Amino acid sequence: MDLLEVRSISKTYGSGETSVRALKKVNFSVPKGEYVAIVGESGSGKSTLLNMIGALDNPTSGKVLIDGKDIFAMKESKLTVFRRRNIGFIFQAFNLIPELTVEQNIIFPVLLDYQKPDKKYLEELLEVLNLKERRNHLPSQLSGGQQQRVAIGRALILRPSLTSRLEIWTRRTAVR
Ligand SMILES: Nc1ncnc2c1ncn2[C@@H]1O[C@H](COP(=O)(O)OP(=O)(O)O)[C@@H](O)[C@H]1O
Ligand SMILES: [Mg+2]
Repeated sequence: MDLLEVRSISKTYGSGETSVRALKKVNFSVPKGEYVAIVGESGSGKSTLLNMIGALDNPTSGKVLIDGKDIFAMKESKLTVFRRRNIGFIFQAFNLIPELTVEQNIIFPVLLDYQKPDKKYLEELLEVLNLKERRNHLPSQLSGGQQQRVAIGRALILRPSLTSRLEIWTRRTAVR
């Protein structure tokens, strides 16, 4: 079974004369372990598509299945937990919490999920992300690249089955 299945997703923003049809019956699937880059000109619907896959917004029609589960058929409360445990987000603006240190930012999703941090895995992440020397620093004391790596650590700490890196590859030129 594919980890991600996008089935005939359409999204129309607004209604009437000013409505925008951002996605028109998009279909694809991604097996577990595969890396996919979505490339397209500005305004072609990349962010809209990633927002649907991450269950951050609802499609007008169509389905998204993650690990065989129809995410839009879940109640909001169940979806919130499912999203936190199964989908890792790295936002373009990293959205780190300014009052928390590097380490606290990374383990934040674990605390939200009422779990205890896996200390060994945290050390592993700090090591591969080259953040060991910065673990007690605040986001404002970090370079852009370091902040981005904290956001990656936070996206991975709960070992999600799906990680989406929103916006990083946005391009202005058309590539088809
Ligand atoms: N909240 C919104 N309301 C109305 N139109 C929107 C909204 N968000 C995006 N759009 C429109 O939908 C289309 C796709 O946008 P988007 O998914 O952000 O494109 P991309 O990420 O590929 O640049 C664009 O024409 C954009 O203007
Ligand atoms: Mg975009």
